[in-house]
Amino acid sequence: MKASVIANKDYTISKIDDRVYGAFLEHLGRAVYEGIYEPDHPSADKDGMRGDVAELVKKLNVPVVRYPGGNFVSAYNWEDGIGPREERPTRLDLAWHTSESNAVGVHEFADWCATVGTEMMLAVNLGSRGVDDARNFLEYVNHPGGSYWSDLRIKNGRKEPWNVKMWCLGNEMDGPWQVGHKDADEYGKLAANTARAMRMFDKSLELIVCGSSHMDMPSFPDWERIVLEHTYDHVDHISLHMYFANRDDNTPNYLGLSHKLERYIDTVAATIKQVKAKKKSKKDIYISFDEWNVWYHSNQQDRKILDGNDGWPHAPGLLEDIYNFEDVLMVGLILNTFIRRSDVVKIACIAQLVNVIAPIMTEKGGPAWAQTIYYPYYFASVYGRGTALQLVTSSPCYETTHAADTPFVDISGVHNEDEGVLTFFLVNRHTSESIETEVSLQGFAGGTVIDHQVMTHPNLKAVNTAKKQDEVAPKKGEGARIADGKFSVALPPYSYQMVRVKI
Ligand code: AHR
Repeated sequence: MKASVIANKDYTISKIDDRVYGAFLEHLGRAVYEGIYEPDHPSADKDGMRGDVAELVKKLNVPVVRYPGGNFVSAYNWEDGIGPREERPTRLDLAWHTSESNAVGVHEFADWCATVGTEMMLAVNLGSRGVDDARNFLEYVNHPGGSYWSDLRIKNGRKEPWNVKMWCLGNEMDGPWQVGHKDADEYGKLAANTARAMRMFDKSLELIVCGSSHMDMPSFPDWERIVLEHTYDHVDHISLHMYFANRDDNTPNYLGLSHKLERYIDTVAATIKQVKAKKKSKKDIYISFDEWNVWYHSNQQDRKILDGNDGWPHAPGLLEDIYNFEDVLMVGLILNTFIRRSDVVKIACIAQLVNVIAPIMTEKGGPAWAQTIYYPYYFASVYGRGTALQLVTSSPCYETTHAADTPFVDISGVHNEDEGVLTFFLVNRHTSESIETEVSLQGFAGGTVIDHQVMTHPNLKAVNTAKKQDEVAPKKGEGARIADGKFSVALPPYSYQMVRVKI
């Protein structure tokens, strides 16, 4: 089987916003406690943050981390997490039926972000709270001093404001599972009022309003239209979430889900345009895809805790999906989609970062290791910076329940002008056939393959564990050739690859 691709220097989609490689960390399960924070761990720093986890995060070059939720934020009092630790209250977290000690709050999170070299993206609670708490939190975090909340921050040990630019106006407010769930009109009005107040403090904030929790929500896509009609002039991004699952163990169909993702983005992009036209506005709104990942492996084992049968445990092992090799392909496909839609998707956050549906796993008192999906995320985040190329791809296709024509070869291409490097991310969705893929490089002079990484595995269900941390890991590829302005590479069945070409 063969596929062909044209990459032309002049045919580009957009400069990729680095923040498309962001991540998400929620007070949920062992994401924070035993994830990033474990004071008794041998690698813990003076703040109790795990050094081994920080190292794995640093390698990912994560540009931004969304915090503190998620569903958690909709009943969160941010003030519980400031001041002397011993005075912080333990609260019941209604979203995940657990107890929250508040040992980690915004100060500890901010310090950790500085350690791992990332920016904060904070969410305000628009579930159980509203405008007042949002403006207070903003003042606490961003005001230099001389006011009640900023002086309290200084008293709590942080002199300089953090100057957080990105703020989420609540989380998944369309979902009936959300504390303080609202209909689109109610939420739209509240989000607009909150945004107005936040902008009175600082016009330059980037505000993110809630879109749909997923594409199958009964309120989709009217939710987006109504919410944007209320908020268009006051916000910068609309947030979307999507989780991927292979519930019926049908890999070809599972891997076709990126088609659904593409349709989701297309629909919301069209809704943005519709509201823009209606408002006769010159302004553009973008998509913040601030929760995405594979999530289903842990669903059954979580039931007892989520149904409340285990009481209110602190930091139980919730949403601990153990990812396999086929999830590598899915994550590669999702990231390719974001690169191809970099014209509208300006922020995206893998959900989440540690232990909870995450690329990094930890054992209490033990090791931290990379799950299988760590690698496609790593390659895209580290090497996928630059301008997305408008590739013309011709590949044999197959049918799934999501689309009539799903190409076996999925590819995205990034031109890093500063380094003079082209990076291609390729996935072969074919069960059994290797596909010879030829990419014509038009308008690019020269060409030498400087890196070629391949992920394949004879067992789609293979996983990494504490004892076998490298069962699924990339290997140096061979056989990517450049001749006559074309590079060619063989894509083994069910494989993920990254090829970098110096031009
Ligand atoms: O990431 C896990 C949960 O998924 C988040 O708390 C929520 O926003 C979404 O439903």
